[in-house]
Amino acid sequence: MKRIGLLTSGGDCQALNAAMRGVVKGMSESTSELEVYGFLNGYKGLIYGNYKLLTSADFSGILTKGGTIIGSSRQPFKLMRTPDEKGLDKVEAMKQNYYKLNLDCLVILGGNGTQKTANLLREEGLHIIHLPKTIDNDIYGTDVTFGFQSAINIACDAIDCIHTTAASHDRVFIVEVMGHKVGWLTLYAGMASGADIILLPEIPYDIDKVIDGIEKRKAAGKGFTILAVAEGAISKKDAKLSKKELKKKMEQYKYPSVSYEIADLINKKTGIEVRVTVPGHTQRGGSPCPYDRVLCTRLGAEAARSIMDEEYGCMIAMVNGKVKRVPLGEVAGKLKMVNPDSQIIKQAKYVGISFGD
Ligand code: F6P
Repeated sequence: MKRIGLLTSGGDCQALNAAMRGVVKGMSESTSELEVYGFLNGYKGLIYGNYKLLTSADFSGILTKGGTIIGSSRQPFKLMRTPDEKGLDKVEAMKQNYYKLNLDCLVILGGNGTQKTANLLREEGLHIIHLPKTIDNDIYGTDVTFGFQSAINIACDAIDCIHTTAASHDRVFIVEVMGHKVGWLTLYAGMASGADIILLPEIPYDIDKVIDGIEKRKAAGKGFTILAVAEGAISKKDAKLSKKELKKKMEQYKYPSVSYEIADLINKKTGIEVRVTVPGHTQRGGSPCPYDRVLCTRLGAEAARSIMDEEYGCMIAMVNGKVKRVPLGEVAGKLKMVNPDSQIIKQAKYVGISFGD
């Protein structure tokens, strides 16, 4: 008999169900005696003992279904050691619920913050397997996270649509792309959709260089310009500020997001009208793309094998095209960022894409 728990935590993405299906299908092939407990709404379910006993039928027909059948929520890692409003010790509560159900393993699907709590639970002695989920692709120790490719498709579609209207009207457009503090999604969606200027958190921009990029295109007879701007993009000036100074700036910030600030600056300096489009959470929604379905089936299958091998405390990752078990303690708390000196950035610059630097 194997008893496993499943939990999806943090911002959702397209392929969470596909990954859980992979785990359960893999386990079902290996053992006829399987109990699967789905903790509801992320760590909240584990803390407060809210769970559902799931059957293999629950995992049928969900390969293409976005979201998560067991719900998700954000439970910040930094508050995990802080008792809740009623004084409950969250870590102890999670351990108790795990032991009460006599679980062999808890499979946790989530991004960076989720992974830190997963590692904490491992350090507390629980059997944990982590599956790397996030549209941001910023999890250290895996080439790719699930959700990333699906989100690229959506962001790319959004920029493609903007492209045609921008060309008809000879306009300058900014499309703001998600990705939290890293630029992977913006870089790939921007390159895939032919963005002329791509602004990433890892390469702080100079607004005058951004304007140069627009003017250069105009001088070459190209009336429209598309900017793909990461939600975490930052100017060279702001990148030099201390944490305290940046916080002060943000307290008085009058824009809904960085793209509106950039649009305003371009307008003030040149008189050019700039339109801003923010696809926002659409980038996390809908059905997973075929790549993510395959990725999740592979990661899920390996998670199941790892449980059968009784090898715990790892993230199931894609490393150089192969699925591997990577020790959680080696990767938790680290961020994978775009390297400004990497080949892809050099190649993008080589074909004329400006990063505003
Ligand atoms: O981490 C995934 C992500 O979609 C980020 O790209 C984005 O910054 C954040 O979550 C948005 O969070 P929320 O759904 O809480 O608004």
